[in-house]
Amino acid sequence: MSEPIIEPIFDVAEFRRALGAFVTGVTVVTTIQPDGSPRGFTANSFTSVSLDPPLILVCIAKTASSHAVFSTTDHFAVSVLAESQKNVSSVFASKSADKFAQVAWRARATGAPVMEGASATFDCRTHEVVDAGDHIILIGRVVDFVHTNSSPLGYCRGAYVNFSLSQDALAATGARAQVGAILEHRDGLVLLETPEGFALPTGVKLEPASDAASLRGVLAKLGLVAHLDFLFAVFEAGQGPSSSVHVYYRGRVNSSGAAMMDNAIHIVPLARIPWGELRDEAVRSMLQRYVRERSEDAFGIYVGDTEAGTVQTLAAAH
Ligand SMILES: Cc1cc2nc3c(=O)[nH]c(=O)nc-3n(C[C@H](O)[C@H](O)[C@H](O)COP(=O)(O)O)c2cc1C
Repeated sequence: MSEPIIEPIFDVAEFRRALGAFVTGVTVVTTIQPDGSPRGFTANSFTSVSLDPPLILVCIAKTASSHAVFSTTDHFAVSVLAESQKNVSSVFASKSADKFAQVAWRARATGAPVMEGASATFDCRTHEVVDAGDHIILIGRVVDFVHTNSSPLGYCRGAYVNFSLSQDALAATGARAQVGAILEHRDGLVLLETPEGFALPTGVKLEPASDAASLRGVLAKLGLVAHLDFLFAVFEAGQGPSSSVHVYYRGRVNSSGAAMMDNAIHIVPLARIPWGELRDEAVRSMLQRYVRERSEDAFGIYVGDTEAGTVQTLAAAH
């Protein structure tokens, strides 16, 4: 007699958001098809499995057009993307017919293609393919690998993370700084209405909350209980003595604090940001990148995105 299956009442969107809290890297999984042409897709489900024997895995959606190719291939490679390779992630997360024409790649020992400039690459023979719900788990036995010093690209809550930005931001202390936050609340962005137009919350430094001039102080005064996740951008604005370093974090407003919100605060859906009414052009350009990175949610469980730009570290943001 088969056990009755008790299905919990599942809010799939919430489940995806919860999964998005797990910070991952970004990889491109590649192989050579029977006709000799290369094939690949972006994946953040890459995981190390075993040291002896050396095994790794990646999960592939059954809805991916390359699912059939990867479920039958006897070899494949995984390229762990570097911070400068958001465009590579974007190309391989797309349905583009000529993904490999848009990137630099080369063939490895098994013949599988890997991305030039990746932080690490793993060349694998297929060890096992496991059926798992709406995905398959492709387990590879690593036959060769390479790693470099380049900082890996991160991914969390549907957007890319540049870990090395933290060091740049620290290096910038001492310069005239503006520290701001790109905050989401539910599916909207927190904008402040000012006489000169809409702006993001900013301060002259990050902390403490007891200092009204700091970002934490500004948020506290507005009644926003916010959690800052990661640095999103660091750039210089203005020329000569009036130039300043701008440091922007991305984060979320905790719903518990939302009831106390100030009148100046507007929660604007990402699709309806009043671009023409933003006070600062550098902020507009940075927010456009943010919205691009957040807007595409078409990747099953991958709270996904695609994006072609790169962060201009300590350089003008536009
Ligand atoms: C950051 C990121 C991570 C992704 N991770 C996976 C993954 O682990 N498995 C998967 O099947 N699709 C993943 N996707 C979605 C695929 O890259 C996307 O569906 C792609 O179009 C598949 O290529 P194909 O249609 O040519 O097979 C991810 C997308 C992004 C942007």
